[in-house]
Amino acid sequence: MGNAPPSSTPRHVAVIMDGNGRWAESRGLPRKAGHRAGAESVREVVDACLDLGIEFLTLYAFSSENWNRPEKEIDALMKLLEQFLKTKGQEFGKKNVRLRTIGRTQMLPDSCRDQLEKVKADTAKNTALTVILALSYGSREEITDAAQRIAQKVAIGQLAPEDISRETVSAHLDTADFPDPDLLIRTSGELRLSNFLLWQLSYAEFFISPKNWPDFHKSDFREAIEDYSRRHRRFGRV
Ligand code: FPP
Repeated sequence: MGNAPPSSTPRHVAVIMDGNGRWAESRGLPRKAGHRAGAESVREVVDACLDLGIEFLTLYAFSSENWNRPEKEIDALMKLLEQFLKTKGQEFGKKNVRLRTIGRTQMLPDSCRDQLEKVKADTAKNTALTVILALSYGSREEITDAAQRIAQKVAIGQLAPEDISRETVSAHLDTADFPDPDLLIRTSGELRLSNFLLWQLSYAEFFISPKNWPDFHKSDFREAIEDYSRRHRRFGRV
């Protein structure tokens, strides 16, 4: 079998938005200023996806491990998210963007969850781009939750153990409704997955940017997509 044809635009891009804290600290600013600047990059990348015809964008906005940060920083992030949702609700409506979430969102403060539910409901029928916010998300937690749900079905006789397939597992993950990401972007030069979409990224291409997330602009996102488009994807074949 020869090389697969060059891949073109990815359908689904996932992003680990790293380096907000370092961006702020290098300017003598509080960490929350970095997160605020990071929210601007989110806006730019959403617009870039719309321009490029990308269908799904997953953003790692708050990890399971982020609950271990100082309370002050968690509060600032939650406030920022709430504010973002308040303004994005209308903007997403105008731009035909649908909002979805993955993660244990039941752990978020009530006010945040209410906003999330509102924007999700208001944008449910939009079709240009799906923005998936990973919130209180950890891949091992997600896989554990899926294993429990599958085990419950086996326990009540709805599913036979020998019928559990890769598709069964995928269908019980938070991402059941979405295709696997084609491309993972991580900023700030770190070379880790940090408990992000471990199952779903099995065949994804990686693009690591040395820039901190607040310095990652539309042109950087375009560069990542162009780099991806030049690669040949072989899925383990020769
Ligand atoms: C990682 O930087 C970033 C986060 C933990 C939060 C991501 C949040 C945003 C980009 C802003 C809000 C997002 C939305 C969707 C409104 P870090 O703090 O770990 O940076 P560091 O590694 O330099 O300390």
